[in-house]
Amino acid sequence: MKLEALVNPSVLTQPVYEPGKPIEDVARELGLDPATIIKLASNENPFGPSPLAKAAAVRALDQGELYPDGGCVALRAKLAKVYQLEPAQFVVGNGSNEIIELLGHVFLRPGDEVVMGNPSFAVYKLVTLLFGAKPVEVPLVNHTHDLAALAAAITPKTKLVFVPSPNNPMGTANTEAELLAFARGLPEHVVFAYDEAYAEYLDNPPDLRPLIREGRKVVCLRTFSKIYGLASLRVGYGYASPELASLLNRVRQPFNVNAIGQAAAIAALDDGAFTAKCARENRVGLGQLEAGFKAMGLEIVPSVANFLLVKVGDGARVFVELQKRGVIVRPMRAYGMPEWLRVTVGTPAQNQRLLTTLADVLRG
Ligand SMILES: Cc1ncc(COP(=O)(O)O)c(C=O)c1O
Repeated sequence: MKLEALVNPSVLTQPVYEPGKPIEDVARELGLDPATIIKLASNENPFGPSPLAKAAAVRALDQGELYPDGGCVALRAKLAKVYQLEPAQFVVGNGSNEIIELLGHVFLRPGDEVVMGNPSFAVYKLVTLLFGAKPVEVPLVNHTHDLAALAAAITPKTKLVFVPSPNNPMGTANTEAELLAFARGLPEHVVFAYDEAYAEYLDNPPDLRPLIREGRKVVCLRTFSKIYGLASLRVGYGYASPELASLLNRVRQPFNVNAIGQAAAIAALDDGAFTAKCARENRVGLGQLEAGFKAMGLEIVPSVANFLLVKVGDGARVFVELQKRGVIVRPMRAYGMPEWLRVTVGTPAQNQRLLTTLADVLRG
């Protein structure tokens, strides 16, 4: 019997996530010195982790032989203080990607529908397909989630609706008033997953806690991978009603979040000065990139996040040429935007290198 005959059919058709190219891969493939390569491909923080988080991670290694706290008790207590919610309202994951998968475990069965914008974060669709459910993709309007159209796409089969704000890859956001009204208008059988992976880059991030207090079926997703600079440690979390959080906690692995990541995340929450500085630097960097792209006559999508879409023509070619020159960005073909690149806001020097190298590539 062929192995294939034994496999869950949704696995055979499952698309594969295309991550940003790691520096080491590019160095190996192109014979470049890794130290000369810059990666502006995965919306990471170019300033790294906060010094407090780094020190806490190193301290945690001293007990590397022990299993981590499987309940993330200290981190959930810290988050509860920050949000003025109860620890039982939090679920911590191996990145917020894991929480998206946990939503699939809890809610999705074959035949269910999941409503999402297009383009939006690729993992919503991947998780939907993995559970044999059907992605219902709703086009954006003016590069922004059209919440009325998302609401109109809901059917009796809809289980989940995902709204990231700011949205990846567009960098656009919806307002708090829009999001609250959208959630309050959802039918009882739909769970609203509000993904705020980039919220810390906003001046006034929407606060959706009133929805949770009203007892609505809402889960908010956050991550330590972006402004906190801890992407490699894989820590993300969700907050919701105690009932919803406990369902998500029920389906996760016992030790899904490592101790080094937990320690770093707790310390990172104490370093507000660092995140404030990163948000300020990001605004300056966004301005630097926008001005540079405009000076080259390139179209952009105005962004409020730590990345930016720029229209370069043949995105696949420009991506390859930039890479040969040691600059890794993200081609957007997989998101149905083959003429565009997504670039992460780097340090001022990295941004300048990207602009100069791109000008060089476009001159041919
Ligand atoms: C909108 C959005 N949500 C979630 C994630 C997942 O982040 P992580 O799994 O690193 O927490 C990302 C990562 O790029 C993202 O862009």
